[in-house]
Amino acid sequence: AKHVGILALEVYFPNTFVSQEDLEVHDQVQPGKYTVGLGQRNMAFTGDQEDVVSMSLTAVHSLLEKYEIDPRDIGRLEVGTESALDRSKSIKTFLMSLFAERGNHDIEGVDSLNACYGGTAALFNAVNWVESRAWDGRLALVVAADIAMYAAGPARPSGGCGAIAMLVGPDAPLDLERGLCASHMEHAYDFYKPCGFYPMVDGKSSVACYLMALDKCYASLCEKFERCRSNFERQRRLARSSSSSSRGAPGDAPSGPPSLTLADVDYCVMHSPFVKMVRKGFARIFYQDHLRADIRRTARQARAEARAGAPGLLPCMRSSSSKPTQDPRPLVAGATAHITGPPAKTAADILVEEETGRSSAATLDAHPADPENFPPESYADRDLERAAVAASSDAFTSMVEPSLMAAAECGNMYAASVHAGLASLVEREGANLEGRRILMYSYGSGLAASLWSVIGRKVEGTFALSSVSSKTRIRDRLEARRKAEPTEFVATLELLEKQYRQADYAPKKAAEDLRGGTFYLSGVDTMYRRTYAYK
Ligand code: ACO
Repeated sequence: AKHVGILALEVYFPNTFVSQEDLEVHDQVQPGKYTVGLGQRNMAFTGDQEDVVSMSLTAVHSLLEKYEIDPRDIGRLEVGTESALDRSKSIKTFLMSLFAERGNHDIEGVDSLNACYGGTAALFNAVNWVESRAWDGRLALVVAADIAMYAAGPARPSGGCGAIAMLVGPDAPLDLERGLCASHMEHAYDFYKPCGFYPMVDGKSSVACYLMALDKCYASLCEKFERCRSNFERQRRLARSSSSSSRGAPGDAPSGPPSLTLADVDYCVMHSPFVKMVRKGFARIFYQDHLRADIRRTARQARAEARAGAPGLLPCMRSSSSKPTQDPRPLVAGATAHITGPPAKTAADILVEEETGRSSAATLDAHPADPENFPPESYADRDLERAAVAASSDAFTSMVEPSLMAAAECGNMYAASVHAGLASLVEREGANLEGRRILMYSYGSGLAASLWSVIGRKVEGTFALSSVSSKTRIRDRLEARRKAEPTEFVATLELLEKQYRQADYAPKKAAEDLRGGTFYLSGVDTMYRRTYAYK
């Protein structure tokens, strides 16, 4: 099978939210702590009549209905979650009820677990299956769903919830660019759930781990890209040549340096525990580009000096004294940045100057580092972070912000987060994504992370990006939600904590709160068996 990727996406989030501004008042913290400090607007939350199974049922049912998919055409179903309700029975098996109705029991796949990474593991499994000799010609479904809740304190406003169902198959409008994927995995105790209702979390360490894993993935991805650049460029040209989009793509610019940079990418979608985290992550990639450009400049200068008979510098050594007088590329590389000619002072440079009183290059240069191996203290360096955030601000607006709608409004969807970011981007950009490269970053504590590329492709019919974009309807549903007071939010968390893993239980919250087309928990019997109903 060719061009295997995502054909369609369906996001589900509960109908109730709490405003982060209201939470600031309720929690008696300084104004702006959650809205500006974490970058969040609202947080979705469920009552006790919903759980991760009901949310997954809703997402799958709604996707099958919207795209008129016959359940018998599904041959694989994978679930990624960290909100499992049972230590043995998978969520996938609950979802089988939707397929059993049509006599389809021949569906491979079960659940994948590792914090927020499970959905990505599930997606990779599904794509690999369609590309493999085991594929039987049917489509795959991937579900990622989670409910993120924290004990009272600074982590609580970074909660949230949501689910996504993704249809995977060949000739996809969102084509996973094979070979352009890098992972970083290692043992860490930044966030984990050994027991109890709430997770154990070392917030600061989890932020540093997210950034460190991103650095490692990006360095590795750059290396892979460098090895196969001409291949990747040809693939992207092919995707673009079948595109009717008249907008010029960055690939139209003359070939860039022999490594991946943000100039090769049009959009970045990242796991979003809170929007500020994504802001920091993107700034980190931007900083890596800056360091690599500096290394390349130094190498070029060394070669030029060697040719002129002057003593050269080793290419891998960077030194501020070796700074060239002319940089062929401005600092900001982005979707719309066609980069040629001498250095121009960009809006981002001006921002950095205003913020720090120094030029952006000088500010970032004050923190020399090897982009393959950053010192741990660089993750806690506020000056460096502020400078990189300011310098990458324009690129962030064009490349990242379009994917943050669900994240800012629903909060952390854990396993569903990065994929709901892609759905947000598709809703916003539609056919504009044809011929564009989207960089995806998935991070799951503990830790497992991957950075991979998706290319938007022009396809005809139901799965055309314009058609998928018109069907996601995230914005409409966000606007139709019911706003709850913080007192109701806190009381609901207390109720969920009490009800956690109880037998013989009937939900206290009514199904009236739910939108039509939603599955909900109707009860838990004395044997802990859960039953669901459909509204
Ligand atoms: N106005 C504006 N900004 C403010 C205000 C205010 N009144 N008060 C604080 N801030 C800013 C801080 O300056 C800081 O900004 P910076 O990050 O740019 O420096 C930011 O708000 C956070 O404040 P802190 O005091 O540094 O941290 P806090 O104690 O609020 O905790 C944390 C934040 C660690 C993210 C916490 O919410 C948490 O533990 N969350 C769960 C873990 C998590 O999400 N980790 C991310 C990756 S792992 C995963 O996905 C689960």
